[in-house]
Amino acid sequence: MALHRLPRVNAEYLEGGAEEEHTLRENREAFESVRFAPRVLRDVATVDLGRTIFGQRHRLPFGIAPTGFNGLLWHQGDQAIARAAAQANIPFCQSTVSNQTVSDCAGVKGLTHWFQLYLYGDESTWSRLIADAEKARCQALVLTVDSPVHGHREWDRRNYRSGFTPNWSSKIDMLCHPRWMWQVMRHGLPSFPNLAQFLPEGQRDLYSVATWALSHQVPRADWSTLARVRALWPGRLLIKGVGHLEDIRLARDAGLDGVVLSNHGGRQLDRAISPLHHLRQARQLVGPDFTLLVDSGFRRGADIIQALAMGATGVLLGRAMLYGLAAGGYAGVTRAIELLTAEMSRTMALLGVRSVDELNEEVFA
Ligand SMILES: Cc1cc2nc3c(=O)[nH]c(=O)nc-3n(C[C@H](O)[C@H](O)[C@H](O)COP(=O)(O)O)c2cc1C
Repeated sequence: MALHRLPRVNAEYLEGGAEEEHTLRENREAFESVRFAPRVLRDVATVDLGRTIFGQRHRLPFGIAPTGFNGLLWHQGDQAIARAAAQANIPFCQSTVSNQTVSDCAGVKGLTHWFQLYLYGDESTWSRLIADAEKARCQALVLTVDSPVHGHREWDRRNYRSGFTPNWSSKIDMLCHPRWMWQVMRHGLPSFPNLAQFLPEGQRDLYSVATWALSHQVPRADWSTLARVRALWPGRLLIKGVGHLEDIRLARDAGLDGVVLSNHGGRQLDRAISPLHHLRQARQLVGPDFTLLVDSGFRRGADIIQALAMGATGVLLGRAMLYGLAAGGYAGVTRAIELLTAEMSRTMALLGVRSVDELNEEVFA
């Protein structure tokens, strides 16, 4: 439904991966090699999918990954996701390049609200963003570290004339999607209000801010930069986009509260390893209590169950939630969460395991 409703430029932005898309494909293939060995006669009349993350009990063992440009999939898409997350009692990580401010989403009642930080510009820029997240009472800061430069999504790039300006063929294709035009474009192009404050008035439109962001990435960031972020943010701090076991160890030794094993959904480094391939080793490395979240390629409830049994504390979902958003806004995200909940409950019952907290290697053949 999502891909049907969206114009090509947005559908390909959502779906695309970097370069030859080896990683994008492998993120799905990684789930294929594992087989379950189900137990029987175990009274699975009730199944508990609840999970504790950072001391807070959530009804489900996944959260919503940070994604930019949600406002181009659905008008006020960030708030729509935030409302669905609050309703389902799962965390929502809002992106730096979201189309609503961090305080817009903070207003959603009952939300477990995390903020994802991209480093742009210099310390004065990111300290302002961190201050905004603190003011909005975000419960965790997730620093994305896999994007020192922008990944090259060639498929997506073909839709643009230059920078972020769509070419004529993309513009005509937009006009051929009247439902999207009415729901999204009737309100005008959304911008990036968290970043707009860094540009002069009159230059705060989507294209100008996106271009500014691209030219203000911080490829020189290193572990000392992380220490600076740590000093600025008093709360829970994670890094997202970790793809090497040695970096997990460094993150833990740097006193971080957790890491997100992720290859950015195959959108940054093509040929990067799928996190599932070293999840078990990662858990062994950090011990049982360290918060190890994982994303990239999760589409089914059984995918989530598999990762938890391999040692993940929880899973983050990117595209799986965005399909819901693009298909039906708040109702669509809620529906996507319901589908995954039903799939997880069914998988657990068929596996003969009553609680996700009891999942371990014994479920595998
Ligand atoms: C459309 C889109 C936009 C994204 N924007 C961001 C972002 O702004 N910040 C970030 O840290 N990750 C971003 N990501 C990566 C996601 O947080 C997550 O790592 C990825 O979607 C997981 O893979 P999956 O889509 O296969 O679930 C984005 C992913 C997609 C698909």
